Amino acid sequence: MPTSRRPDPARPSVDVLELGGVRLAEIVADPRVGTPSYVYDLDGMVADAKALHASFEGAPHLVSYAMKANSAGPVVRALAEAGCGADVVSGAELVLAMRCGIAPDAIVYSGVAKTDEELDLAIAGGPEGILAIQAESVEEIARVDARARTLGRTARISLRLNPALDADSLDTHRHINTGHDDAKFGIPLASVPTAFAAASASRNLTLVGLTAHVGSQVTATDGYLASARVVFRVAREARGRFPLRFVDTGGGFGIDYGAGCPVTPADFIRATRALQKEHGLDDLVLGCEPGRSLVGAHGVLLAKVIQRKVGDADRRWLMIDAGMNDLMRPALYQARHRVVPLEAAAGESLMWKVVGPVCESSDDFGPHELPAAAFGHVAILDAGAYGYSMASRYNGRALPAEVFLRGGQIVAVKERRPITDWVEDQLSAR
Ligand code: LLP
Repeated sequence: MPTSRRPDPARPSVDVLELGGVRLAEIVADPRVGTPSYVYDLDGMVADAKALHASFEGAPHLVSYAMKANSAGPVVRALAEAGCGADVVSGAELVLAMRCGIAPDAIVYSGVAKTDEELDLAIAGGPEGILAIQAESVEEIARVDARARTLGRTARISLRLNPALDADSLDTHRHINTGHDDAKFGIPLASVPTAFAAASASRNLTLVGLTAHVGSQVTATDGYLASARVVFRVAREARGRFPLRFVDTGGGFGIDYGAGCPVTPADFIRATRALQKEHGLDDLVLGCEPGRSLVGAHGVLLAKVIQRKVGDADRRWLMIDAGMNDLMRPALYQARHRVVPLEAAAGESLMWKVVGPVCESSDDFGPHELPAAAFGHVAILDAGAYGYSMASRYNGRALPAEVFLRGGQIVAVKERRPITDWVEDQLSAR
């Protein structure tokens, strides 16, 4: 989380924004960096991962980092070193997880429509394959079985249940609400007996876990716990029949984007562990799949102010060089990220609509109170999750640079690719 301080009494009107102990103004001035650039505090991510581990109080657990939130190599490696496994959703993420040092035994693979090639990578990864391919339908169980038979191996699977929560019971945006009947995700509860039958009939599958994931940016525990209850109830039915190793209640722990977040990841884990115990399942590994809550608050997107536009009736736009292609969350989920000036100027503040250069009306970071006087750069806060990982090159724009901080200094930089890359790419079809 960026902090603001006033280290220089000679310039008392200037706040200095820092991340990971480094001044953001210094980072933006580095010739390798410029704008738009994501900056991440790896120490903050590791501290959050350690705090989450501690919330299990020594009980057997697996924190499978949902790599889709931020799949940059230094981030995944730092979280792997902090004891995290991975939740992957593609063959590419699976390969990356293993190349970042995550043991196959600590990887679960979620997501619908996995291809045969992707299933093969999971079944063949490591001596026993990955910890579990999370089957999202009865039909997928048969597909995994067929691939395992072809490869002459046994695949470990878990069943991702769809707990059929009321779509309104989760306090999150409808695009990231996955635990209701209409979602493409998870095995419907009515199909669980068929799924059990399919798993026990196969000699190429071992059912080792039961899981659910009901949504993201969840800021109250009720819906999460309702889903966990379903997982635990089904696990009790399964445990006499299958060599269950784990129950996994998913990710989704919300973060504070500025409007507050009353619960912490540790609150979710504490309440889930109590339920697990109530169900007599506390000898099983408890898994969770956090993405955003480990990385979101520890990243910012830096952008340059390109120009201002003042219209009639007090309409003001602050035009910056980062757009919806760099950070898609406001356009896609009406998400609000705080925008703060990097070099705060003295004097009065005004409301500015902060917008990017992309030719879409939704390329809009919303109204923000910012200095009336000119300033050079802004930081868009809490952009460590689902920022770069969802970025695109729409409108012929380059992907942003990425800067990684550790121990109060820059430890790695991924520079922005020149725009000629995009031009050549468009011309490369032969
Ligand atoms: N497990 C599964 C199976 C998931 O599908 C997801 C996220 C997670 C874990 C991690 O959820 P988290 O802890 O990060 O909330 N792009 C959206 C979020 C999409 C989440 C997709 N699934 C956003 O920017 O808000």
